Amino acid sequence: MKNTRRNFIKKTSLGTASVVVGALSPNFMIGRNILGANDRINCAIAGVRSRGKAHAAAIHLQKNANIVYSCDVDDEIIEEHNLWSKKNLGYIPKVEKDFRKLVENKDIDAIFIASPEHWHAPMAIMAMQAGKHVYLEKPCSHNPHENDLLVAAQKKYGLKVQMGNQQRSAVTTIQAISDIRNGIIGEAYKGEAYYSNNRGSIGIGKEIPVPETLDWELWQGPAPRKNYKDNIHPYNWHWFRNWGTGEVHNNGTHEIDICRWALNEELPESVTSVGGKYTFQDDWEFVDNQQVTFQYPKNKFISWTGHSRGLIQPKRPGRGVTIYGSKGVIQLDRNFYKLFDLGGNLIKSVFENAVSQTTDTRGQGQLDVNHVENLFNAIREEKSLNAEIKDASISTMLCHLANMAQDAGETLHIDRKSGKVLNNAMVMKNWKREYAMGWEPKI
Ligand SMILES: NC(=O)c1ccc[n+]([C@@H]2O[C@H](COP(=O)([O-])OP(=O)(O)OC[C@H]3O[C@@H](n4cnc5c(N)ncnc54)[C@H](O)[C@@H]3O)[C@@H](O)[C@H]2O)c1
Repeated sequence: MKNTRRNFIKKTSLGTASVVVGALSPNFMIGRNILGANDRINCAIAGVRSRGKAHAAAIHLQKNANIVYSCDVDDEIIEEHNLWSKKNLGYIPKVEKDFRKLVENKDIDAIFIASPEHWHAPMAIMAMQAGKHVYLEKPCSHNPHENDLLVAAQKKYGLKVQMGNQQRSAVTTIQAISDIRNGIIGEAYKGEAYYSNNRGSIGIGKEIPVPETLDWELWQGPAPRKNYKDNIHPYNWHWFRNWGTGEVHNNGTHEIDICRWALNEELPESVTSVGGKYTFQDDWEFVDNQQVTFQYPKNKFISWTGHSRGLIQPKRPGRGVTIYGSKGVIQLDRNFYKLFDLGGNLIKSVFENAVSQTTDTRGQGQLDVNHVENLFNAIREEKSLNAEIKDASISTMLCHLANMAQDAGETLHIDRKSGKVLNNAMVMKNWKREYAMGWEPKI
């Protein structure tokens, strides 16, 4: 949305009114575009190799929305994405390599962030500071401190920030949660979240010259500097602590979030994790099999079973959630919802209109379309977000606590207001990361 006459009038009148009451929103000072119900939403996507394409496809299916910029630090990926865009969108968005310059562009209303995770919160904060709404891939942060910053920034700038846990926009899951609230399974007491894959070894990385097409300095951005190795970019950064957050964030964020929603809970009382790295001797820095329990008051609990590598359990779907109640059980996936009675008899099943991918690494499908539509409705019509950052960051916090409990090797007791660990000062040192000089996000 450009500064059209209508928007200029809206901005001027609102700006004047706010001066009178002495509450000038920071958005007007930084040139946020105010959008009406029929206005076009101009988007930019940061990180366009894999998940960024799912964003592009979902934006393309919306009414009156446009992708004006692609942002990526790898020329080879940009070139490939331009070809993809021409074929799948019918046009090629402009290109900007440097996110700091991207946010300065006045034409952009919303920024979609599908970069590696060390960049998530810093990018989202920069975007908000420039007056842009944000679709931020899960996990929203690389460390708990960034959660706090994101929530504070959203409050300060008043923009819409949707996390990319798209199952919050699944019609079948929304229905299941509503049924649970209405007592269909009695008292919901346990949420079981799981994910199974048989990922391979990432090997032992060799230091090699940075490919000419890659801006390694910009790729690293807020993260402390490391020499380039051949097993980091793309994708395998997920398994290195300097940039990634491991499987509990990569896939657990989705299912743990659904359990928390079903149980109507926020932060737990305690967190216990067991697990290890069993299958390959390689550079992978997290556990590759993990079992976490989040304990809540009244003996409610959520369990996470993360099986990244090793043989997949026969006949078990790759991911899902089961919610246990005193009178019944609900099984959920991205694409369906099934209700069973306590005898195991199927009482009801509901399927999504279109299928979303579950265990591939892009996760594309109908849920993205719904989730993006929800963001756009929130931007245009002030409708509520399905995964607004204040709540979504709690699910990300559960995943941070899972990693912290695994590192601690003991049950962590949690302050349920702040998420801070009460009984282990060592793991609290990981509340905030170390940033590269000059890159620490601040609001
Ligand atoms: N919601 C979902 O279902 C879902 C599915 C897949 C991935 N994801 C998330 O999406 C994110 C991206 O995952 P991916 O699999 O596409 O990773 P990827 O490594 O394949 O792609 C990341 C892209 O970001 C680019 N990039 C790095 N630094 C950048 C910068 N400073 N500015 C712009 N671009 C930059 C890289 O060059 C690369 O093209 C991850 O956080 C992941 O957890 C979410």
